[in-house]
Amino acid sequence: MAAVAMSAGVAFSQGMSLGKSEFAGKLMKQSAATIAPAKFHNAAVSVRAAGYDEELVKTAKAIASPGRGILAMDESNATCGLRLASIGLENTEVNRQAYRQLLVGTPGLGEYVSGAILFEETLYQSTTDGNKMVDVLTQAGIVPGIKVDKGLVPLAGSNNESWCQGLDGLASRTAAYYKQGARFAKWRTVISIPNGPSELAVTEAAWGLARYAAISQDNGLVPIVEPEILLDGSHGIDRTLEVAQKVWSKVFFFLAENNVLFEGILLKPSMVTPGAECPERAAPEKVAEYTLTLLKRRVPPSVPGIMFLSGGQSEVEATLNLNAMNQSPNPWHVSFSYARALQNSVLKTWKGQPENVEAAQKALLVRAKANSLAQLGKYSAEGEAEEAKKGMFVKGYTY
Ligand code: 13P
Repeated sequence: MAAVAMSAGVAFSQGMSLGKSEFAGKLMKQSAATIAPAKFHNAAVSVRAAGYDEELVKTAKAIASPGRGILAMDESNATCGLRLASIGLENTEVNRQAYRQLLVGTPGLGEYVSGAILFEETLYQSTTDGNKMVDVLTQAGIVPGIKVDKGLVPLAGSNNESWCQGLDGLASRTAAYYKQGARFAKWRTVISIPNGPSELAVTEAAWGLARYAAISQDNGLVPIVEPEILLDGSHGIDRTLEVAQKVWSKVFFFLAENNVLFEGILLKPSMVTPGAECPERAAPEKVAEYTLTLLKRRVPPSVPGIMFLSGGQSEVEATLNLNAMNQSPNPWHVSFSYARALQNSVLKTWKGQPENVEAAQKALLVRAKANSLAQLGKYSAEGEAEEAKKGMFVKGYTY
């Protein structure tokens, strides 16, 4: 499937330099076997199988509600193991359950958090008192989501770049996740600036995201579209903006070509910042100016929500940057979908000790509330702990 998808993806990209009808003709010949022309070109024809459109729009709007954002707690078992190891815990199912139970069971979390992204294990897991994790979330007014990509592997023929796997079997997996209570999905692919990025890697990333988005919507899940532009590198902020514009133009081109309903998606971009090793740092106002420039140039106002990743920024830095972006009204809900920038203090407070659970939940609420205020443009970093100001950038980070 990936090979077919890729060849069609490259065909689209080539089409950008051809005349429209010339390209259309070429495309029809190349991909007649995989794309039904009537569905492909006629927006009036229903393109989603089960008629989830209304529900998709509702779900996306509920997640993009004022003063709320997403808790990304979808670390794969391997990455969760690294988190647990950082506080001296073994990577066992019992320890992962204890940690996830702490997060989802935080009293009052639903006031600041509208959605939680889960790893498959957690979607099917119960708490130690026998309640399904998804039910705990739903009862708190938090929409359960699911990471559906299968991770990154080397992209043959590229400049040491990677591509994201997971399209095979995605339709049946997303249908099963919906049955289990998930209402949105996440697919994270990455773009590396120091490695190019090559045309091939950007096209593959954008095409994969678009196919994933169409398949998720077909099965009732709001897709979070996440092409993470890695912080790695010594480039300046202008170079990040240049690459991000290129990436998002391709992503939206392919989303449109795949008949994805823009009102029923959420974006998860990286903020536009200098590379982690660039000596010239950018203040929150500058990050906001560059990031909003990118979004205004590339993202249609029909998209309901922009939910940023934190990407290795410190907890406070990620919150300050978000706050700076919400100093004036935006066409979309501009919010957070942080993992590290919501969980770092929590883990350090918990340390795996049952007697610390309450304090760790309070630490989560502190971060969730700070980001809620930042979503409303009302955050000040006054009184923040030193620990929350420490950066978490890891070179070549995988999720
Ligand atoms: P970070 O906020 O740690 O970058 O994680 C975001 C992410 O991609 C998880 O969904």
